[in-house]
Amino acid sequence: MQSPLETSRIVLQDACRRADQYLDEIGMRRVAPSPESRSKLSAFDAPMPHEPGDPASTIALLDEVGSPATTATVGGRFFGLVVGGTLPAPLGARALASAWDQIVFNDVTSPVGTKLEKVASKWVLDILGLPETSSVGFVTGATMANFTCLAAARNTLLERQGWDVGKMGLWGAPPVRIVASRQVHVTVLKALRLLGFGTDRIEWVDCDTQGRLIAEQLPDCDDKTLILTQAGNVNSGACDPVADIVAKANGAWVHVDGAFGLWAAASPRLKSQLLGYEAADSWTTDGHKWLNTPYDCGIAICRHPTAIHNAMATQASYLEIGGDVAPKDMVPEFSRGARGVEVWAALHSLGKAGVADLIDRSCALARRFAAGLQDCGFEILNDVVLNQVVATLPDAEELSTDIARLVQESGEAWFGPTTWNGREAIRISVASWATVEADVDRTLRAIKKAVSDLN
Ligand SMILES: Cc1ncc(COP(=O)(O)O)c(C=O)c1O
Repeated sequence: MQSPLETSRIVLQDACRRADQYLDEIGMRRVAPSPESRSKLSAFDAPMPHEPGDPASTIALLDEVGSPATTATVGGRFFGLVVGGTLPAPLGARALASAWDQIVFNDVTSPVGTKLEKVASKWVLDILGLPETSSVGFVTGATMANFTCLAAARNTLLERQGWDVGKMGLWGAPPVRIVASRQVHVTVLKALRLLGFGTDRIEWVDCDTQGRLIAEQLPDCDDKTLILTQAGNVNSGACDPVADIVAKANGAWVHVDGAFGLWAAASPRLKSQLLGYEAADSWTTDGHKWLNTPYDCGIAICRHPTAIHNAMATQASYLEIGGDVAPKDMVPEFSRGARGVEVWAALHSLGKAGVADLIDRSCALARRFAAGLQDCGFEILNDVVLNQVVATLPDAEELSTDIARLVQESGEAWFGPTTWNGREAIRISVASWATVEADVDRTLRAIKKAVSDLN
């Protein structure tokens, strides 16, 4: 009779063999799964079994029915949203850490998880050029990172007015002014809704044609104001002029949503786009986008660790273990997995030069896309300053959605439509370490074919 953990080892070996085959075949697979693979997902629509079964057969079903119905985001030809692949070291770290099954709660539940998160935190601050005493919290994504930073901002701005929101809630609270770029990402608005601010009272600031907040149009601010900016517009990739914004902030809390764009700071060639961003109060970024860690991994960074701690800490007599600040007291989650281990693995395996190369390479591939699209008659609607390309056919903008659909259906690549400055367009985001020039060229051929099929 097998011991319980012997069974785990056998199942894990089988799962690794299947995962290996999946990665081996990814280049030959369609990017969006075929309609047939999707329809076979109905095999999962079975009643829940009454009796335990063989775990190996659970994994076999998962692989045989599930793997063909994945979207091949780990390959090099997924250009939708802003989606990274998974670098080798973080992928291996994920597999090993899955066997560890650590709860990175505090130093007692995971000495290694806590240690690696501390090291990864230092390295993240170093490579992004942010103040070394900032707090770093590993959360599920930029959405939660925005939420975490803005919770700290809310509490601080209310505390400055003598209001303890942790105790008194928002009933009767003094107002907090919120000033935001018109191009702020939808997840920042979601964070505002979750934090009880809503969106009606936002004072919007216009942006230029690249989607950068126009600093001259900022209203007069004070130390009871929250200013929402971004590094890396989700369409154009443009970064707000944070230095100018901070200069006009007059004590306001400045937040930078740099879900992907903050990684431009790791490239000596691109860092100038983020001039002065290190003077902000809080920053959001993602591991799972441009750093290419596995999903899910967002990073909440704050110049004021005590503000994060005051917003996030939980106390109970049974929790008073370990002397240091516990990871659980710096993020919304209580129990959570070892996300920081994957960030550590990415940074350890790439080094500073490797991260810079990853960022520069994506931008070079975006420029290759732009040049190739121009050759096919497209107009490029944004300055391709980072990894984003927005393009349209000047005389047939209305074809954008159909072009994206036909390419998606072909299985050759995946990108989506968008609207930019009132114009219909296609939107391409290069964020995967796995993308090479041949992937761009193959996608361009698919676009050319879609255009000719539509004419
Ligand atoms: C600027 C920006 N902020 C926030 C997000 C949300 O990130 P996540 O999906 O990791 O929560 C995105 C996603 O593309 C983004 O581009």
